[in-house]
Formats: sequence, structure tokens, C-alpha cells
Amino acid sequence: MKEIVLTGIKPTGTPHIANYFGAIKPALEMAEKFDNNFYFIADYHALNTIKSAEELKKHTYEVAATWLACGLDPKKVVFYRQSDIPEVFELNWILCNLTPKGLMNRAHAYKAMVQKNEEEGVDSDAGVNMGLYNYPILMAADILLFNTNYVPVGQDQKQHVEIAKEIARYFNNKYGEVFTYPKEIIRDEVKTVPGLDGRKMSKSYGNAIELFCEPSVLKKKIFSIVTDSSLPTDPKPTDHMIMELYKLFASAEEVKELENKFKAGIGWGEAKKILFEKSNEYLTPLRDKYNEIYENKEKIDEILKSGAERARSIAKQTLKKVRIAIGADRE
Ligand code: TRP
Repeated sequence: MKEIVLTGIKPTGTPHIANYFGAIKPALEMAEKFDNNFYFIADYHALNTIKSAEELKKHTYEVAATWLACGLDPKKVVFYRQSDIPEVFELNWILCNLTPKGLMNRAHAYKAMVQKNEEEGVDSDAGVNMGLYNYPILMAADILLFNTNYVPVGQDQKQHVEIAKEIARYFNNKYGEVFTYPKEIIRDEVKTVPGLDGRKMSKSYGNAIELFCEPSVLKKKIFSIVTDSSLPTDPKPTDHMIMELYKLFASAEEVKELENKFKAGIGWGEAKKILFEKSNEYLTPLRDKYNEIYENKEKIDEILKSGAERARSIAKQTLKKVRIAIGADRE
């Protein structure tokens, strides 16, 4: 299919299992179906939380190596780093001038921060920088610069894509049809992955299993999953999170088999061992590939650089149209 698919990946932490099954895997499957995919590392979006050069670099390489290890084919997907595309930031400024402040006041991330501040009785804008406030405009620039049709994202980013659409509308109404209207493709939440304590797996809950942790760490984490004191001979609930995690890694047949063991009675230790072995078998080839790619930073740089060149050739064309439309062209 010819439509343009684009998504951004914020390099803010070491990827975990829920990132893989909830975001990476579905995005890579989607890329298989389309001819024009732009997947990029949104490093300048990460700036509003990451304030250390070392950390930003580390997370950028981690995220790049993760997606490549998980199967991103740089021939099929234009894979680049946001900060390598100066056109994004020029468009960002132009769009700032069309975006009503009120629209930004209503953006979730900013609103949540203000609400938290009010609850705590401090100044409502405490801890809010302009990067956070303008975050949705930069995201609109990311999207609109590439004539994007589809933006695969999680539910939490839906509003941002709608804002991008809104900004495109302001521009087109004022200056004529330049931008394509993007549509969000929301990943289904069926794949919500439980963390070690049974709540949704999330870095902020501290219940996550890192995707490429060493087998000994994986084992330790799986054995720390919360269970009850029932006896090994007691039947176990088949909706237990051990089962939920197992489903991510095992075939339908294997799932059936373990479910039967749960119904008949199985010791928690035995169940955890089965989960560890299956998940480790699944993750080992990915981990090996990740370690190999991560060690070869020059190769990562090369891939991102060539992605940026391809991305810029499109970005320049769009920006030229924009400059003509606003009266800032030079010919
Ligand atoms: N805001 C997105 C997130 O936090 C990352 C992102 C930046 C993005 N620019 C984008 C996603 C453009 C889709 C399209 O996950």
C-alpha cells in the first residue's frame, strides 16, 4: 500500500517487554504492509525530560539497536534521528504561529502537570518548560513534514495526532492546501502486558522486565512474580499473569498445555520455570543480535545517517511548498 506511515520513538528509557509486544512488534508488522514508512527517534522530544548528554546518547543508541535487532529493515523503513532533520524545527516555528495557545492549554500532558501542581498547592506552571508546553507542535511538524497518512501510536498519543490534524487545517485554510491530514492508528489495548506485580507493565511502576536483560536477571524477575500460598496440587487460575506472560512467547498448543497443568494443579515454582525457559528461548536470539548491534555504534550511525538523507529529500520538498505558501521563498 502506498500511503505514508510515520511514527516517532522517544528515547527515554531502556525498552521493556511491554514496549516490544505493545509497540515495536505491531509497528514492524505494519511496516510490512506499506511501501513508505518513516520511523524515527524523537530525541528532541526527549529533551524535556532528559538533561544529560550521556543519557540521551545512550538511550538513542539503545532504541536504535532495539528496533534493528527486532527486525526493522532500514531498506523498508526510513529510519532516522529527528535532530538530523533541521526542516522539522523550521516547520515547528512556522506552525507555532498558527497554533492557538488555548489548544496547547488543553493538551493532556500539560493539563496533567498543572492539575498535579494545583493539588499540591504550588504554582500551576511549576516544573513546566516550554518544550513540554509546545510538545504537540513539534510533533505536528514531525508528522506534517512527510505528508503522513497514518500514525501508529498508543492511546496516550491520540490527542497529539488530532492536534496535528487541527494545525494542518489551520494552515491549509489560511494558505491553501499544502498538508495532508494524518490519521492515528491506535494499537489495540488487548495486548496490555502485566508487570511483575500484576499491574500494567510500566517503567514508572518499577514492575517492568527489560527486553534484553541477561538470562539470570530475567530468571530472577520471573521468580519474583507475586503468587499466593496455595499448594502445588491446588488448581491455579488460568488468567494468572504467569499465564498472560506465557501467551506472549508460546504457541497456541503450548498455551493449551500449560492451561491444562494450571487446571490440574501445578506448583508456582514449576510454572515460573516453564515461563522463564520459554521466554528466554524467545528472547535469546533477539538479545544476541541486540548486543552485537549495540557494540557496533558506527554501523548504527551509518544507518541513521542514510535514513536522514532520504528523509531530508522529502522534508525539503514539503518545506519549500510551505515557504512559498507563507511568502518566505527565495526564488
Ligand atoms: N510523542 C510520542 C511518544 O511519546 C513520540 C513522537 C514524537 C511521535 N513525534 C511523533 C509519535 C510523531 C508519532 C508521530 O510516544
